[in-house]
This record gives sequence, C-alpha cells and structure tokens, in this order.
Amino acid sequence: MGDATIAVFSGTGNAARAAGIMADRLRAAGLAVTTVDLAAGEALPEPSAGGLLVVCSSTLGFSVPYTVMRALRRAPRAAAGSRAAVACVCGSTMGRSGIIGGWSGAASIAALAALGRRGYRAAGSADVSYPENWTQASPPAAGADRDAMIARGDAEAEAFGESLVAGDGTFLRRDPLTRSLGRFVGFVFRVLARRALARLFVADGACTGCGLCADACPSAAIEMRDGRPAWSTACSACNRCINLCPAAAIQTSTARLVLVLGLNAAAMLAAPRAADALLAAVGGGSGWPGFGLASFALSLALYAALTVLQLGPLDALLRAAERSRALRRIFVAGPTRRFPRYLAPGFSPRIPSDR
Ligand SMILES: Cc1cc2nc3c(=O)[nH]c(=O)nc-3n(C[C@H](O)[C@H](O)[C@H](O)COP(=O)(O)O)c2cc1C
Repeated sequence: MGDATIAVFSGTGNAARAAGIMADRLRAAGLAVTTVDLAAGEALPEPSAGGLLVVCSSTLGFSVPYTVMRALRRAPRAAAGSRAAVACVCGSTMGRSGIIGGWSGAASIAALAALGRRGYRAAGSADVSYPENWTQASPPAAGADRDAMIARGDAEAEAFGESLVAGDGTFLRRDPLTRSLGRFVGFVFRVLARRALARLFVADGACTGCGLCADACPSAAIEMRDGRPAWSTACSACNRCINLCPAAAIQTSTARLVLVLGLNAAAMLAAPRAADALLAAVGGGSGWPGFGLASFALSLALYAALTVLQLGPLDALLRAAERSRALRRIFVAGPTRRFPRYLAPGFSPRIPSDR
C-alpha cells in the first residue's frame, strides 16, 4: 500500500497524541508508518516514491514552531509522487457555550509552501484542537473540561487520518488577507516573539536543580547555571518546561514582564525622536530631501540595537539581580504560581540523544 512518515513536534503531548491516532489509522489502511520526533532532534528521512509525509505539530503564534519550519526547509527533496499533509495541533478553550477550537492562521499554508519548494505535492491540511498549553500566559483547562477537549481533539485527528486514507484531500482555506496577515504574524512570532517570551521564564525557590527542563527542551534553549535553569533566545516558546517541571517551579516573572514591556514601549517612543534629533544635528536641520526615510531607517537601527542590548548585557544584569536574595523574591513573583500545569495524558517527552 506504500509508506508514510509522520513528523511530530509536540511540546506537551497533544501533537504526539494526534500523531499516534493518525498513525494507527494509516496502519489500519495497510501503510507502513514511521514516526520521526522533530522535538528530539530527529531528521526527516529520504522520501520514497509515492510516499506520504504527514507533519503533525503544535501551533505557536499562528505558525509551526521555528524548529519545524527549519526542518521543512531543509527536508530532503521529494521523490516522484511524494505527497505531504500538515495537521496543525491547536489550543482549545472553554467558552460559555462549550469548547472553542483553536486556530492555526496560515501555519499549514506556510508549512505546505515550504514542502512544495522541496517538491512535495500537497495532500491535505487540518486544525486539530486539544487543550491550550500556554501556561506561561493563562491557566490550562483541568478536570472534565480538559477531558472533553481531549476527546474532541482525538475525534478530529481520527477524521483527518481518515481523509488521508480516503485520499480526498481536505484543506484549510484562508482568504488572501487572512493568509497574508497570518503569515506575517507567524513570521514575527518565529523571529522575535518566541525570544521575548523566553525572557519571562524564571525558576522559583521550589526548583531542585534536577535539570529535566534543560534535558527535555526541544530547542536546547535551557542551560543549568549555578544549579538553576537559564533560558536562551533559541527558545521556541513551546511551554514544555513550565508544564513538565516536577516541582512546578518554573514561573512567568511579573517583574520581568513589566521591565520588558516598559523598556520596549519607551524605546518605541524614544527611538524616532532620537533619530530625528541626531539627523538634524548632523545635517544642519530637518528640511533636506529624504529626511523622513533616513529618520525611519535610523529609528529601526536604534531599536534593533536596543533589542541586541536587551537580549545580551541587559539580560545578564537582570539574571545577576535575580541572584541577590532580596531581589529574587520580587523576580519570582507571578500569576503562574496558582496555575495548574498541563501535559497530555501519558505523555513523557523523548530526551534528545545529545543530552
Ligand atoms: C506560545 C504559544 C502560542 C500558541 N499559539 C497558538 C495559536 O496561534 N493558535 C492556537 O490555536 N493555539 C496556540 N497555542 C496552543 C497550542 O498550540 C496547543 O495547546 C497545542 O495543542 C499544543 O500542542 P503540544 O501539546 O503538542 O505542544 C499556543 C501555545 C503557546 C505556548
């Protein structure tokens, strides 16, 4: 019947669960199925002629995670008749009238386009919604709500697997404006937002220094320093660490959030003024042609310089402040201390072989 590869990226187990359901469905139809764990650093294999590649990934900021996009762009070139499908595993929440499914924006369109450039023919795409896992920002569902969301996700994964077996190619459609906006937001998330979100994580006094967060991080973005985790800009923002920590010691730092937002707001207001003043001083006034464009470009350059400063020396300063006993209490305070954590039932992440 041919073969299929399911490439999975799962922060907290939802995509892994959906991939398992789809694999069972494809196997039941007679396909030989191999699973590749992109979050454990496994590479996509050489495709076989007529084979099917299914990408099943969590959705982060209307995009597939940075790690997944990089793997798709570097995928071995398709063989004759190779096809690819994308299941975007989204986050559902509970509304007044029941479960509200997640939304992947243009994530599947961007992922299929990347695979199209590697020679794959599109075979289908779908959103599959399981409980929202963004514990860094909001409390995940628990109890009966959580169970109902998981049951809904299971049914959606089963239906997508079924459509792939039937070969009827269901696709997520987006109008041109939504598609462009979605791709733009996804791009900004992959390039910038995930790095900013990484700066909000902090380990509180419950941290035992076990290093599980660092070992299991899909992006190798956590380093243990003086027995505590420190997050680098390689973070995908998948929220595995905050949900996986056995001591629930990883928090969103309110002090860091206020500092990061405050600094960026101040920079956005100050950069254009500083650029105007600098150019006027150098050019002897602001009346010369091209002043507006030059000022805009200089503002962007100033803002970029501040971003580099923020991610480097300023971050090191913050980490040093956090180590002082008096300030530590302020930095580890945050709303996530009261939040439950979320992992899909039975999920235990595979530790990459290089850890
Ligand atoms: C930083 C972040 C951004 C997210 N963005 C989206 C999104 O754009 N759309 C969506 O439906 N869900 C979003 N989610 C929710 C996850 O995609 C969802 O919970 C998913 O089921 C997680 O899958 P996993 O357990 O395999 O990691 C986001 C989660 C995080 C942590």
